[in-house]
Amino acid sequence: MRIFKNEKALRPEYMPEHLPYRENHLRKLKLYFSQFIEEPGSICPKVIMIGKTGTGKTVTARKFGMEINEKYGNKNLKYVHVYCYSKRTLFSVLKDIAQQLGVALPKRGFSISDMMQLLLDTLEEKNLYIIVTLDDVFHLTDVSEEEQLSDFIKFSEEMYHKTGKYRIGMILISQDSRFLERLDRSARSLLGNVKIEFEPYTKDQIYVILEQRAREALREDAYDDDILQMIADVAGADEERGAEGHRGDARFALDVLWQAAKLAELDGSSRITPEHVREALKHSVPGIPVEYLEGLSLHKKLFLLAIVRALKARKNQAYVPFGIVEETYNIICEQYGERPRKHTQLWEYLRELKRLGIVETRLSGKGMRGRTTLISISTVNISIPAEPLEGLERILEDLIRRDMT
Ligand SMILES: Nc1ncnc2c1ncn2[C@@H]1O[C@H](COP(=O)(O)OP(=O)(O)OP(=O)(O)O)[C@@H](O)[C@H]1O
Ligand SMILES: [Mg+2]
Repeated sequence: MRIFKNEKALRPEYMPEHLPYRENHLRKLKLYFSQFIEEPGSICPKVIMIGKTGTGKTVTARKFGMEINEKYGNKNLKYVHVYCYSKRTLFSVLKDIAQQLGVALPKRGFSISDMMQLLLDTLEEKNLYIIVTLDDVFHLTDVSEEEQLSDFIKFSEEMYHKTGKYRIGMILISQDSRFLERLDRSARSLLGNVKIEFEPYTKDQIYVILEQRAREALREDAYDDDILQMIADVAGADEERGAEGHRGDARFALDVLWQAAKLAELDGSSRITPEHVREALKHSVPGIPVEYLEGLSLHKKLFLLAIVRALKARKNQAYVPFGIVEETYNIICEQYGERPRKHTQLWEYLRELKRLGIVETRLSGKGMRGRTTLISISTVNISIPAEPLEGLERILEDLIRRDMT
């Protein structure tokens, strides 16, 4: 029995037609950028967007960007969205911007300043103006690379001195303002103080958001208002509990609804029941947004699934040795009819998953013979102490199935 009519509408990357409760934020953005748009080059707008997870920062910026690209994209103004989560160095951020602008990059031997120069030349040559969003920008201020974000902010200013035109407008998105403290003084003052705050969504607001997405994603008789209300009650912020845990997080709410719908389908049920919602709440993995998992290659997903299964098999232990994960991975590959990747490749995968904050590793204690790498799923942010592994396993299986068809 199909519960979904258009499953995509519940996925995180889906762009809804309207963004309830964010119309004002969108209007402010347009206002701050209006002069840059009307008289490109005259000013260098920089806007900071701050709000907790799932409060609509990314979706609002992307909406703004889509409108820019639709209206002016074939003229000389372009919007570019960079996810710093998966970049983490100024070099790869610049590379991403260049690629989105269709600039051909030499394969190697390219330094940061070469990259900046290339970008600058391209903008000049094509007479382009860009609005760049650095999403989750705090990743660029990770300890060793503190000064990199500062460099980027100064970069756009230097261009002005060279050419008399401001070619880059900037939107910086972050969950809190701490990244500002890591900037050096001149970058800090160049950045200015234009801030748009994203408040956690209340229960009523979450309800409205769920309702809008449910209408597009689910068959009309597959759910009723109570189902949405149940989720909104858990996911919405309120006076008593404020925005603790995942309250106020629309991504979490939508994920629970998606999972409840999945469970209903798996059950062969004709509708989503409260029991499905309860199950889904237990299985939700708020710590790791599904969109990050989706971006992993097939074999990284298979490898992560191996970590999850290996951990599940060792019930009460937080860590599992690399060797066991490798064995599990080989078995999983066999099950899926995939040729397993080599040992060294798996180390690469592990490093990548670690870099993304999805897994943690440490070396086994001195007591053990021969030190071995132990792996654990990172539990940052997981606010529901139920069975997150189960939820993660299910999501991964689902994504893998989709990759393979
Ligand atoms: N006002 C809204 N109307 C409809 N959908 C929304 C709204 N706000 C957020 N969403 C949806 O909720 C999910 C999370 O939103 P978004 O990714 O923008 O959050 P975020 O603030 O960027 O969170 P994070 O800090 O974790 O990146 C997305 O699927 C988005 O489409
Ligand atoms: Mg975001």
